[in-house]
Amino acid sequence: MRSKAMPPTTFDLLADDDQQPARTEQIGEQSFVLRGFALPWVEQLLPVLEKILLAAPFRQMVTPGGFTLSVGLSSCGTLGWTTDRSGYRYTRIDPVSGQPWPAMPEVFSELAQAAAREAGFHHFEPDACLINRYLPGARMSLHQDKDERSYDPPIVSVSLGLPAMFLFGGFERNDKSQRVPLFHGDIVVWGGVDRLRYHGVLPLKDGYHPQLGGQRINFTFRTAG
Ligand code: SIN
Ligand code: FE2
Repeated sequence: MRSKAMPPTTFDLLADDDQQPARTEQIGEQSFVLRGFALPWVEQLLPVLEKILLAAPFRQMVTPGGFTLSVGLSSCGTLGWTTDRSGYRYTRIDPVSGQPWPAMPEVFSELAQAAAREAGFHHFEPDACLINRYLPGARMSLHQDKDERSYDPPIVSVSLGLPAMFLFGGFERNDKSQRVPLFHGDIVVWGGVDRLRYHGVLPLKDGYHPQLGGQRINFTFRTAG
């Protein structure tokens, strides 16, 4: 099993499939699904997540168009992503608590950096971790991540709990999307030429996960500021 101690030296973007780690799937020129990459970290992630959620509980946010997102949102890190009637943006203060967003735990940023490295993105310095909670029926429609200051750093997206069907599209909303099933512990990394690809999540199916129960949690790490 890979761990954070394993150097990424065996990973060569131009290598033949059979030379790549068995559980890395390429879904774009610079886009990868790292199957099970987060599994060795889960025991450390969950108690820290619990603390973050005490300070910044999941909340339903409203889009500028007046729709309430079905996914519950929270954040940790210097910057947290929020939306309300006046627009999408990153803030230093959690608008619900009036306090700064909880700091990004070291284990979070280490995992995100290790995953980014595995996908060929070195020196990833995330300052924002969006935490999404999907209950059955919750979905995320196709969108691009465009609120960050620079599109040079990649997106690192960690899946925990119930499985979901991730849609990985093209550069136009109507381009055909790949359907990528994501399971507990999987990480998707996309960046470089793929940084602005549309993506989304189909409505979550009912189920039960032994560690997370009837929900899916997603961490999306970005360099926002
Ligand atoms: C997102 O695009 O913010 C979330 C993606 C996911 O939940 O897998
Ligand atoms: Fe996104």
